[in-house]
Amino acid sequence: MVTAMNDFEDKVRDALSDPKNQGEMSDADSVGTVGSPDCGDMLRMWLKFTEKDGRKVIDRASFQSFGCQTAIAVASMATEMLKGKTAEEAATLSANELTGDLGPLPPMKIHCGQLVEGALRNALGGEATTPENQAPTLSGDLQKPQGKVRIVPLD
Ligand code: FES
Repeated sequence: MVTAMNDFEDKVRDALSDPKNQGEMSDADSVGTVGSPDCGDMLRMWLKFTEKDGRKVIDRASFQSFGCQTAIAVASMATEMLKGKTAEEAATLSANELTGDLGPLPPMKIHCGQLVEGALRNALGGEATTPENQAPTLSGDLQKPQGKVRIVPLD
């Protein structure tokens, strides 16, 4: 018998077999980084905007994660979903919506989706949103924690 948890784990495994949009983006317009106080995982998201039909929309999104498999699977789904959305539209997406085909996260994995949501919100607003004031890679942040980088802990 297939349980909901098995079904979810199968979807995560599928997403991880071909994760989308992993890696830093050298020409990004904004970047956001968060760390989870629950598990110590970190996730960074880069956004690149473009003009389309008179609207400024997300052209590309990418991510790097020192996080669990669920966070990587959600970030893969979310970065695909963000393409073509305005900053305002992206800002309305909840952690549950960013999971895409993965569906609702099991209770013990909800914070993994919130890590992705937090990185997106950090990239969409706040002080640490330009590529210049964050290290070029997430591992760079870990190696130089005293730099100008502001890593935002999730609530
Ligand atoms: Fe930390 Fe999933 S267990 S983000």
